[in-house]
Amino acid sequence: MYFIANWKMFGGLSTLNSLKKVIKFLKIFKKSKKIKIIYCPPNTLIRSMSKKVINSKIQVGAQNCHESLTYGASTGSINPRMLKNVGAKYVILGHSENRDSGETDKLINAKIKAATQAGLKVIFCIGETLGQKRKKITKKILSKQIIVGLQKIKKRKNIVIAYEPVWSIGTGLIPKAADLFNTINYIKKKVRNIKVLYGGSVNPKNINKLKLIKNIDGFLIGGASQDPKKFIDIIKKTYN
Ligand code: PGA
Repeated sequence: MYFIANWKMFGGLSTLNSLKKVIKFLKIFKKSKKIKIIYCPPNTLIRSMSKKVINSKIQVGAQNCHESLTYGASTGSINPRMLKNVGAKYVILGHSENRDSGETDKLINAKIKAATQAGLKVIFCIGETLGQKRKKITKKILSKQIIVGLQKIKKRKNIVIAYEPVWSIGTGLIPKAADLFNTINYIKKKVRNIKVLYGGSVNPKNINKLKLIKNIDGFLIGGASQDPKKFIDIIKKTYN
């Protein structure tokens, strides 16, 4: 099971102290060997976080990257090699908050290619909006996101998919269990041998329901991941 923390645009150097609790917990947690813990802080914290988590179970990832593998005149951008250079092992790509600001499936495809070539593992986010859900075109949307997003990418062993319905991100809403099971099943049929995580308002309360959905391979956690207690609680309850 994957437990991925997406800190979004939150956190400064002092926030890194909150990792101590999580590192301590992971040392004594009996199921530690069975889980992967990845923290994706803002780029400003990747280097310092990577140093803090040495000798722990935690790996560090970024939240986005540029689609180029080389340096270039691209003000404000960071390419996957630069992320790797400062300690990132993973990168989140295709997050709905970035799709919202104009990222297309095609651009996401280019980013996935660059990131995997640079040796980063990719957390590839897909999901439908509320309007698309209401129109009952969820599968059509996911299918396009997957087909274009993974176009001409043969080696997929370093990619996991995070299914994040846009309407569930930061809203406290989660899909009905049967719907979620079916959607994850659909994704797994579409892309063979891939891990599929769920993301969207995962918290210590709803994890008891979510953990019962057998085909989920882990969780991408936003808001709740900023609080080490909540993050630990989510992991503990998944195995209770
Ligand atoms: P949330 O965010 O857990 O705060 O809903 C999830 C995400 O955006 O990855």
